[in-house]
Amino acid sequence: PAGAARATGGGLDLAGVSAVELASRFGTPLYVLDESDARSRAAGIRTAFADAFAPHGAAVTVYYAGKAFLSSEVARWMADEGLGLDVASGGELAVALASGFDPARIGFHGNNKSQDELDRAIGAGIGSIVLDSELELERVAAAAARLGVVQAVRVRANSGVNAHTHDYLATSREDQKFGIALVDVPAIVARIRSVESLRFLGLHSHIGSQIFDAAGFVEAIGRLMAVHAMLLESGPVPELNIGGGFGIAYTSADRPMPMGELASALAEAVAREAERFGVHVPGISIEPGRAIIGPAGVTLYTVGTIKDVDVSVADSSAIRRYVSVDGGMSDNVRPALYGAEYSARLANRRSDASPVLARVAGKHCESGDIVVHDEYLPGDVAPGDILAVPATGAYCWSLASNYNYLGRPAVVAVANGSARLIVRRESEADLLSRDVGLSEHSATEG
Ligand code: LLP
Repeated sequence: PAGAARATGGGLDLAGVSAVELASRFGTPLYVLDESDARSRAAGIRTAFADAFAPHGAAVTVYYAGKAFLSSEVARWMADEGLGLDVASGGELAVALASGFDPARIGFHGNNKSQDELDRAIGAGIGSIVLDSELELERVAAAAARLGVVQAVRVRANSGVNAHTHDYLATSREDQKFGIALVDVPAIVARIRSVESLRFLGLHSHIGSQIFDAAGFVEAIGRLMAVHAMLLESGPVPELNIGGGFGIAYTSADRPMPMGELASALAEAVAREAERFGVHVPGISIEPGRAIIGPAGVTLYTVGTIKDVDVSVADSSAIRRYVSVDGGMSDNVRPALYGAEYSARLANRRSDASPVLARVAGKHCESGDIVVHDEYLPGDVAPGDILAVPATGAYCWSLASNYNYLGRPAVVAVANGSARLIVRRESEADLLSRDVGLSEHSATEG
């Protein structure tokens, strides 16, 4: 992963900028995004899917899932690369619109969008809203009628395939908050078609995230196409959205399916099912987030304390070296939340010291505050050294918190030997500013 990361002159170099320079200019912890890596993954996915579906006569729209990481800068990269944008809240929509993203190329998701969020989206001319319930259908219909527009909508169908567990046949798969069960979809679509302020675009499905192979998607496509074909008997169904969830390598043990192969497998599945049901291959859309921005990000940390902890069990003696850094679960909660695995490497210099098994820990007051569970680091890693943790572009900054009153780190974009700040670090003043008990205006502000 780690995009264009390579070692030069001793330390790590990110798109031509040294980790040492980045850390001294912007401080640590620091999220570094490799712009050309993110752009080329966006363009690569677009091309892979376009090429795979073209022989079947279908066009593909790629929506970048902004929940993975969203800022105005990244929204502009995605627009430049010809992608649409998937937003999941009023806040994500606000960033997208403020960045100048074409509203017609934005899709809006979520199982509990508020009336205010729906009104803003429809008022802004959003391209599509993914309906997640019958209640929402009525809310969108009413809002669109009030605003005098016809709103394009998709229906999130719960295909019953849950790729998280690879257990697509388990019965508990239906027991979750998203979408509408496939059996209930025809009635919902009939209702959409009966309402003048709505236009039905097609079905939507998202089966999970960090998926390494095509099997779950293929299973879901089969189930969706059966309903898609049934819906075609009573009206147009121009598109099918097969969601996101394409996995990436966090460590060298991860082997996600290459994007070209995945795209071909999905295209073949759609074409095969279309033929089986005697219908045309619909326009396709997908919504990857992680696969575009995840590998483009690296987090830089500064080492603070180092401790050798005796972890001997019975007659096997062992020492584990705890290397603590200046961030942790507030900038990357994924190890604590999902048991996610990362790797780490020394970034400010070269070292020939023999490697020792280390655990990279954060600075928070929880023992689960781990950045990398097991990593061989040079035995001479010392306070003040910089560590780089690759593949942190997705779901790290976007899931960051202020736990223990740590400010969220800055985000810097690197490209062609230069670095620029794209999101500034939260200062202590930022954090204190929301505590109205500290503000002179506390008596008057609501
Ligand atoms: N579309 C929908 C409807 C989604 O719910 C998601 C992710 C995506 C697209 C994008 O999935 P991606 O291609 O990024 O895998 N916080 C978790 C991931 C949660 C994903 C939620 N939905 C993590 O850090 O692993």
